[in-house]
Amino acid sequence: MKKIKLLFATGNENKVKEVKDIAGKNFDIYCLKDLNLTNLKVEENGKTFIENAKIKAEFYSNFTDLPVVADDSGLEIDALNGEPGIYSARYLSDTLDYFDKCKIIIKKMSNINNIKKRSARFICVFCLAQKGKTQFCKEGRVEGYISFELKGNKGFGYDPIFFYPPMNMTFAEMPLEEKNKISHRFKAFNSLFEELKKHSIY
Ligand code: IMP
Repeated sequence: MKKIKLLFATGNENKVKEVKDIAGKNFDIYCLKDLNLTNLKVEENGKTFIENAKIKAEFYSNFTDLPVVADDSGLEIDALNGEPGIYSARYLSDTLDYFDKCKIIIKKMSNINNIKKRSARFICVFCLAQKGKTQFCKEGRVEGYISFELKGNKGFGYDPIFFYPPMNMTFAEMPLEEKNKISHRFKAFNSLFEELKKHSIY
C-alpha cells in the first residue's frame, strides 16, 4: 500500500510523537514545523471539540496541497461540570504549568471521596480538510477517574491525574506504547484511517 502523506496541523510535540507512533508505517506524517508553517496562527474560537478541530484543519489546508488533519482534545471531568473541556490547554491560566493545574484540580475535588463520583474522560476529535474544506471528522474517547494524587512522570498535560482502571494506573505511569493502544487519540486516529481508506485519500 502506498504511504499516505498528511500534515498534522499542531505545534504540540507530544501530540506529534503520539500520532506518529499510532499512525505507524502506512503514513508519512508532517507537522507544522516540517513545512515551516509555525508562524501561522488561527484563533480556536469554536464552542466544541469538533468546531475547533475544523477551524484548524480548514485554516492550515489553505497553505499546502497535502490533506491536513487537525485535532482538538481535552479532559472532561463530570464533578466539575465538564471542565476543563475544550479549554484544557488554557484552563485556569496560560502561565500555570500542568503540574500546578493538576494540583488545583485535585484540590477542587478534595471533598469527593467516592472514586465513582470522580469520573472523567479524555476526548479527541480529528478533522481532515483539503483546500479549505472539511471532508470528515472522527472522535475517540477514553473513560477513567481523577486520581487522589498526581502519579507518574510519563506523558504530558493531565496524564498524572487520569486514572485508567483496566490497567490500574494513571496515564502518566503507563509506557507510551501502552497509552497509544487505548487512548482517545488512538481511537480517533484509527477511525480517521478507516475513513481515509474509504475516500481513497492517498
Ligand atoms: P488542544 O487540543 O491543542 O487545544 O489542547 C488539548 C489539551 O488537552 C492539551 O494541551 C492537554 O492539556 C489536554 N490533553 C489532550 N490530550 C491529552 C492527553 O493525552 N494527555 C494529557 N492531556 C491531554
